[in-house]
Amino acid sequence: MQFFTSALAVAATFSVADAAIKGFNSGSTFSTGANKQQADFAYEMKAAQQLPGTNGAWTSVRLYTMIQGGTTDSPISAIPAAIETKSTLLLGLWASETSDAFQNELNALKNAISQYGTAFTDLVTGISVGSEDLYRTSTGEVGATPEQVVDFISKTRAVIKGTSLEGKPVGHVDTWDAFVNGANSAVVSACDFLGMDAYPYYQASTVGGNGIGNANATFWKAYTDTVGAAQGKPVWITETGWPIVGDTIGEAVPGAEDARTFWEEAVCHALATDVNMYYFQLQTSQGVQVNPDWGIKGAGDIVNEAVRFQVTC
Ligand SMILES: *[C@@H]1O[C@H](CO)[C@@H](O)[C@H](O)[C@H]1NC(C)=O
Repeated sequence: MQFFTSALAVAATFSVADAAIKGFNSGSTFSTGANKQQADFAYEMKAAQQLPGTNGAWTSVRLYTMIQGGTTDSPISAIPAAIETKSTLLLGLWASETSDAFQNELNALKNAISQYGTAFTDLVTGISVGSEDLYRTSTGEVGATPEQVVDFISKTRAVIKGTSLEGKPVGHVDTWDAFVNGANSAVVSACDFLGMDAYPYYQASTVGGNGIGNANATFWKAYTDTVGAAQGKPVWITETGWPIVGDTIGEAVPGAEDARTFWEEAVCHALATDVNMYYFQLQTSQGVQVNPDWGIKGAGDIVNEAVRFQVTC
């Protein structure tokens, strides 16, 4: 409790620019495939709030599914963890699947509302129906069509109608180029907000190259292009980052120094301009090493586990 009291006191002195949401993405499993439990989510949330030099400002978490791993439709344990740690949540419903499976996401959402009530719903910053489903369809992976995403959005709106979640913004997360693609404009129309994922690291064919020297410009061009396709809807940054470990792609080389540069330029500009931001990601892989690994903090003792680079601006 002492921690929260002092964090709130500091927060009260923040400037307007600090009002934007600052958070990290969090999957429902570890890289081993093991399901995260409440204590695991709470650990991440506390680690984010205790990042050195940030005055406890990183208090939000974006989820990909409403379902606790290993169950059919029990609410994800990130919810009690958020209540416990006073974190906020951008909810996610996984939408690259059949309608029957999506119904389980809706059931978990309903179950969460009835189980936790306003202690939960007061913490919700928004509801994202899907994550990169349009992009995945464009690459031939299991995704969702624009028609399916629109249908899932309307089913989600029907579920929250008349509940304490009614009025929360409902949107969709996808890669920036999926939003810019006019074939997907019906999804944009159906959204209250767009969640944009953009990774200059992967954009090897971009003009000027994908080296760190061009990353800030590439990122903000993606953002500006998405805003141009957004039909006036707010655009949130739902994923971006620079890997610390992993393969070189074109001119993009993973490493802590370049990740720091990306933070200092792209992330700090987002914070200074009041854009809602969910960074990818807080934790390095735990268990099996992933490639690329975007984590800025190891798994271990929250206070003493060093960050890979400074996240101050
Ligand atoms: C990063 O891009 C933004 C948006 O174009 C720009 O305002 C800012 O000056 C850039 N930062 C650097 C360090 O170039």
